Amino acid sequence: MNLTLLVENNSKIESFYRLNLFTWLGLDTIVAHDAASALKLLEKDKAQFGLIIARGKIGKEQTALEITTTLKKLGTEIPVIVIGPGKEVPGSFAHMANSLQLKTMIQGAAKAMGITAQSMLAKDVPAYFPIPLQFFTLLKRSICNVYGKDKTLLFEKLKDFPDGEIKKLEKSGVNELYVDKMDRLEFVNNVTAELMATLEDEDLSEDEQMTASDQTMELASKKLVSIGITEETVALATRSMETMKKNVKVNPRLSKLMEKLLANKTSYLFTHTQILSYIGLHIIKNIDWGNPEQEEKICFIAFFHDIALEKDEHGVIKSQLQLKKSNFNEMDKSLVERHAQIAAELVSKFPHAPMGSDQIIRQHHGTLNGVGFSDHFGNNVSPMSIVFIVSEEFTRIVLKYAGAELNRTQMIRELKDTFPTSRFQKVIELLNTITF
Ligand SMILES: [Fe+2]
Ligand SMILES: [Fe+2]
Repeated sequence: MNLTLLVENNSKIESFYRLNLFTWLGLDTIVAHDAASALKLLEKDKAQFGLIIARGKIGKEQTALEITTTLKKLGTEIPVIVIGPGKEVPGSFAHMANSLQLKTMIQGAAKAMGITAQSMLAKDVPAYFPIPLQFFTLLKRSICNVYGKDKTLLFEKLKDFPDGEIKKLEKSGVNELYVDKMDRLEFVNNVTAELMATLEDEDLSEDEQMTASDQTMELASKKLVSIGITEETVALATRSMETMKKNVKVNPRLSKLMEKLLANKTSYLFTHTQILSYIGLHIIKNIDWGNPEQEEKICFIAFFHDIALEKDEHGVIKSQLQLKKSNFNEMDKSLVERHAQIAAELVSKFPHAPMGSDQIIRQHHGTLNGVGFSDHFGNNVSPMSIVFIVSEEFTRIVLKYAGAELNRTQMIRELKDTFPTSRFQKVIELLNTITF
């Protein structure tokens, strides 16, 4: 009964579904790649399954519908959760159009199985939590310490696995390694993000692409901050910036982009960076000195400026007073205070970073050294800095009205009140042509 039948043909999605179902809900999974093989498994022993998670459509096949129809004929009442875009499937328990929204998927699976938060808490989790070895073949390193069967430390956290080590373990018949039970969710989230970041856009709906971009950015920021500039982190950051630029292209209207971000519950940091890229690109495209090089630059700055922030709440702080009044612990306070400086230092090491981008990032909260916040932007700020500061403040205003009607005139008025000098006002004027 604790077995889930997953009907999915994307091997990466299959992997992280399996890992998440096991870690969050203690469910084991059997995978079928199409309706026919799923039905074969059901015919053989349907009593072993407590839940079916099936993709709505695999290729031309109406996978989930074929399954629910057969279940009905058999008079079997195994709940079926349908994942992926498409119409509602009659006889299904729930439909999750965005199959990458794992939190929703886990909640749905728990509900279908009658697993409550209390029953999960009451469950005994071993001090060393087993993770199948196959997941380590997907990683270069682990974000937490990894232990062997005899509970000896095998791999230290964030240190690259020695070459060929995982293969060696595989050959010697090791099936699983262990992580501290307190680290297990973070570990699983990390593996999930790693896999999501490698999904191909063609395989995903627009909503799923949004979730994947969000996860990719989060992964890129965590890695950049924890392991610094390496070939791997540069590639990941570049990929993340490219998806964000693509999202701007495929959503030519700001309201459409906003809607998609909200509907897919992307993180504040991602949402903020994505909208900021949209607005910054709009200004550069319309300003007299704008060119493709400057477009690159504004996206680059947008991506990096808040990269050191760890939590969504950090991104909202914009003054020294707000920071002081916040209930962050001392470590978080210091991180928020220094986030511009940390990001600028990373960028100064980033290969082929656009010229001067580190300085704009260092000063994006008005202080020269990137520490703390100031309301005052000096008279000698560069034109690109002005574009960035205006874009960031406009992003804040747009997000403030998220979900409500976007009134451009009012939003621009608010922006003009914040920046009364003529150099800023000239840039603000360009926002009048943004398509809402
Ligand atoms: Fe920001
Ligand atoms: Fe910031």
